[in-house]
Amino acid sequence: MAKEPVRVLVTGAAGQIGYALVPMIARGIMLGADQPVILHMLDIPFAAEALNGVKMELVDAAFPLLKGVVATTDVVEACTGVNVAVMVGGFPRKEGMERKDVMSKNVSIYKSQASALEQHAAPNCKVLVVANPANTNALILKEFAPSIPAKNITCLTRLDHNRALGQISERLSVQVSDVKNVIIWGNHSSTQYPDVNHATVGDKPVRELVKDDEWLNGEFITTVQQRGAAIIKARKLSSALSAASAACDHIRDWVLGTPEGLWVSMGVYSDGSYNVPAGVIYSFPVTCKNGEWTIVQGLAIDEFSRKKLDLTGAELTEEKELAYSCLS
Ligand code: NAD
Ligand code: LMR
Repeated sequence: MAKEPVRVLVTGAAGQIGYALVPMIARGIMLGADQPVILHMLDIPFAAEALNGVKMELVDAAFPLLKGVVATTDVVEACTGVNVAVMVGGFPRKEGMERKDVMSKNVSIYKSQASALEQHAAPNCKVLVVANPANTNALILKEFAPSIPAKNITCLTRLDHNRALGQISERLSVQVSDVKNVIIWGNHSSTQYPDVNHATVGDKPVRELVKDDEWLNGEFITTVQQRGAAIIKARKLSSALSAASAACDHIRDWVLGTPEGLWVSMGVYSDGSYNVPAGVIYSFPVTCKNGEWTIVQGLAIDEFSRKKLDLTGAELTEEKELAYSCLS
């Protein structure tokens, strides 16, 4: 029997990530090749004509899994009945800007969209925040939508996770699919900590294979931390196809589960695991089963890593305070 369609909201759908993301969702890349979807696309009135153009292209692409499209500038209509919400809407960082610079513009959007989701989304809607500052926007969404369970609100650090996999695969000249269990800790910002201490290729630790701790503790980390800025410098636009693809990876693994023995990185509401600050959205290694994520526990954290986990945690605490000051 055919499955019931799942309603997927994409905010900022007329923007560049939206344009890359909606065809992926309509092709089943996010929720599976047998899962029909109804796309809800939201943007602001200024972008309404472009949004309608995206809707026209979705019709023209004749995706068999796509059972309907709602394209609207009305946040209530956009949020009504959605099972998955991918929050991309906001202002992207431009060359020379730090994420803090986009904070005041974006957190107020997330405060107001929190209530619309809380009141109109389907019960148990899963929320992924992509727009920057992603962790803090997700936190604001959580705080202003108190009836949505905290475990349902996450942010995207899977792009950073995939970037780390990509760097190791290039360095070792191995297939990216053979690199496993890297971790992104903390903030989706230049303080994030890409950690390979538990990563493997085949049955060998990455550290043993790379044989260059100076590179792993130096250039590898800064390359992943600065990759967003490097893409902006090269494209004059922030990453879009890799961000859209990572958003699909994030939701797919959350809904359908992570493969046995594998973990992924997700920004989730911190319970203080690994002695990082509780009450912020912090990226951890997680496994997913039956639509729920669980933080991987018991990993050894050496002194070098400890400092990095604390540094990015401190930035998130500071961002939380700054976000509240922008909202008051
Ligand atoms: P973009 O400017 O091309 O698109 C953003 C869209 O959001 C625009 O169409 C804009 O009209 C719309 N928008 C603005 N305010 C809105 C609102 N209140 N409601 C609905 N829509 C609204 O930007 P983009 O390149 O698609 O990037 C989107 C966001 O994602 C940015 O904040 C960017 O920094 C962030 N980003 C995050 C990651 C990540 O890994 N977490 C990666 C890449 C980009
Ligand atoms: C990215 O990581 O590519 C995005 O978050 C864009 C940015 O601002 O770095």
